Amino acid sequence: MKDENISFVNAVVDNGNDEEKKKGKVCILAVESSCDETSAAVVSDGRNVLSNIIASQIAIHKEYGGVVPEIASRKHIECINPVIEAALEEANVTLDDIDAICVTYGPGLIGSLLVGVGAAKAIAYAKKKPIVGVHHIGGHISANYIEHDNLKPPFMCLVVSGGHTNIVEVKDYGVYNIIGRTRDDAVGEAFDKVARTIGLGYPGGPKIDKLAKEGNSEAIIFPRGTIEGAPYDFSFSGVKSAVLNYVNSYNMKKESFSQADVAASFQAAVIDVLVSRTIKAAKEYGYKQIAVSGGVACNSALRKALKDQCDACGFELFYPSPVLCTDNAAMIGAAGYYEYMRGVRHGLDLNAVANLTFE
Ligand code: KG4
Ligand code: ZN
Repeated sequence: MKDENISFVNAVVDNGNDEEKKKGKVCILAVESSCDETSAAVVSDGRNVLSNIIASQIAIHKEYGGVVPEIASRKHIECINPVIEAALEEANVTLDDIDAICVTYGPGLIGSLLVGVGAAKAIAYAKKKPIVGVHHIGGHISANYIEHDNLKPPFMCLVVSGGHTNIVEVKDYGVYNIIGRTRDDAVGEAFDKVARTIGLGYPGGPKIDKLAKEGNSEAIIFPRGTIEGAPYDFSFSGVKSAVLNYVNSYNMKKESFSQADVAASFQAAVIDVLVSRTIKAAKEYGYKQIAVSGGVACNSALRKALKDQCDACGFELFYPSPVLCTDNAAMIGAAGYYEYMRGVRHGLDLNAVANLTFE
C-alpha cells in the first residue's frame, strides 16, 4: 500500500534540448537511495534527463526531528519498484531501451543504500544489463552538467550537503582531487542542528534560509572556524556551540532572543568561510569556473555571495536548479554515464558501502 505521506515528483528541468537530442545514444537508468529520498531517473547521453522521479520521506522523518535510518530503509523498500516503474513510464522507455544501470553505492545509510543497490542488481541480472556503482558525491558534482552544456572539466567545485563539505578540483569526468574537507560537522548538518537549537524543526537548512531574510546578519558575530596549516579545511563545531551557548544564555535569563537574527548571523558566518575559501582555492589552482552542488547549494544567500565574489573576480559560477541540488537520481545518471563511457563496470557482487571514501 502506498504511504500517503510520500508523493512522487517528476523533477525534470528544461535545459533547452530538443526532442531529437533527447533521444541520445546511451540511455542510463539511474537509482539513488542513500538517505531519505527514493529516486530513479532515465538520462540519455549524460546530460538529458528524460525522467527524474523523487519520492521524498521528509514528511515522515520531520516528526522525529531527523532521519530515522530503520524507517528510511523500510520506506525505500515500499517505494523502489513503483519509483523505477514511474521513471521508465515518464521517459517513455522500457528496460530493453536501457544500456546500463547506474546506482549510488555509497556513502550513505547502509540500510537505505542496500535497497537501491539490490534493486539495480536484480534488474541488471534479469535483463543482462551492465551495472555501474556511482559515488554519491560524484553525483552531486555532476548535477551541474545537466543544465550547463558549456561546463566541462577541469573546474573547481564546492560540495555542500548534509553529509559533506568539500572543495574539489574536478580534473576530468569522475577524476577528483579533494582540496578542502570538514574536520567535524558537514555544513548541512550544522544548519540542521542550529535550526533545532533555535526551535525551527527539520529539515533546518531551508527554514534558516527563509528566516534569515528577516534578520540582521551582523547582529551577532559567530566564530569563523579556521584550521592552522590547512587553509581550505572547514570546522563548524565552533559556530554550532556558539549558537547553543547564545541560546542557553537567553533561556537561563528567561529572556527571548531574535530567532531571525541568530539564523542570519549563523548563516553569514558559515557562508563567509565557504565563499572565501572556495574563491581562494580557485585563484591558487588557476580556475576561472566554479561550480557548487549538494543540498546546501539551494541556499539563496550562499548563491548570492558566491555570485558577487565570482563577478568581482571575473569567474563564471555554475549551480543546479534547487531540485537537482538535493538528492535525486538524475545526477547519478549524469555521473554514471561518464563512468560507463570510460569503461567502469561493477559485477553482481557490487555492495553498498556506508562510509565509501572520496579520495
Ligand atoms: O544533498 P542533500 O539532499 O543530502 C545529502 O547528501 O546530505 O542535502 C541535504 C542538506 C540538509 O542538511 C538540508 O538542511 C540542506 O541540505 N539544505 C539547505 C537548504 N536546502 C537544503 N541548507 C541551507 N539552505 C537551504 N536552502
Ligand atoms: Zn546528497
